[in-house]
Amino acid sequence: MARTVWNSTVGKKTVMAVSGLVMLLYLVAHMLGNLKIFFGTDEFNHYAHWLRTVGEPLMHYEWTLWVIRVVLVVAVVAHAVSAYQLSRRDIKARPSKYVHKKPRAGYATRTMRWGGIILGLFIVWHILDLTTGTVHSGGFESGKPYQNVVDTFSTWYGNAIYIVAMLAVGLHIRHGFWSAAQTLGVGSRTRDRALKAVADVLALLLTAGFLAVPVGVMTGVVS
Ligand code: HEM
Repeated sequence: MARTVWNSTVGKKTVMAVSGLVMLLYLVAHMLGNLKIFFGTDEFNHYAHWLRTVGEPLMHYEWTLWVIRVVLVVAVVAHAVSAYQLSRRDIKARPSKYVHKKPRAGYATRTMRWGGIILGLFIVWHILDLTTGTVHSGGFESGKPYQNVVDTFSTWYGNAIYIVAMLAVGLHIRHGFWSAAQTLGVGSRTRDRALKAVADVLALLLTAGFLAVPVGVMTGVVS
């Protein structure tokens, strides 16, 4: 049963929609958490500490965080694998008259494909920058994310990488949210306008919320 669903195009699209919505929930929470940087060093660092102790005493130190990490890894892998398989299927399904002249994928498909690749690379960079500190520009100190974030946005390339990624996030969510609604059967002729508006607002709020942090550091509001 599960295999039949997974092998079908609709099954793969459903996996994309559900894993996408899981990541979207994470992004909304992450964006709100990031905004705490505007309330000062103690509040932001305390929040990072809370992320590791949430659920205690039932949960041990970092257990909840690890549950979230595992869920996110499963979501990212499921999303990427189904995207890849759907795009292979798309190419194979093309009529043979296209053998000599490859048709260009549509604008939305190309944006989603490149956006997805950019975001995948960004997530690896971002974890090496602010979670492990491997590629961090300053003297990375785990447990002191306020200073780590300020260091990142004090370099031109840190700002460039994050700004490009945040724009990619916005575009990806704008189209992805809409597609997910169609796949999950929420769309209808009367609801489509409203769904498009929700997708636009969501994408705009997330992009603006995330961008506020580098802009805050660049303008000296956060230092
Ligand atoms: C300006 C925008 C962003 C800032 C300032 C930011 C900041 C941070 C910081 C400080 C951490 C480390 C938290 C800690 O260890 O306590 C972190 C982790 C993380 N962020 Fe972001 N982030 C941003 C955007 C994003 C975006 C757009 C994504 C996803 C597309 C993302 C995904 C993650 C992930 C997956 C982690 C790793 C969580 C973990 O396993 O500990 N972040 N971020």
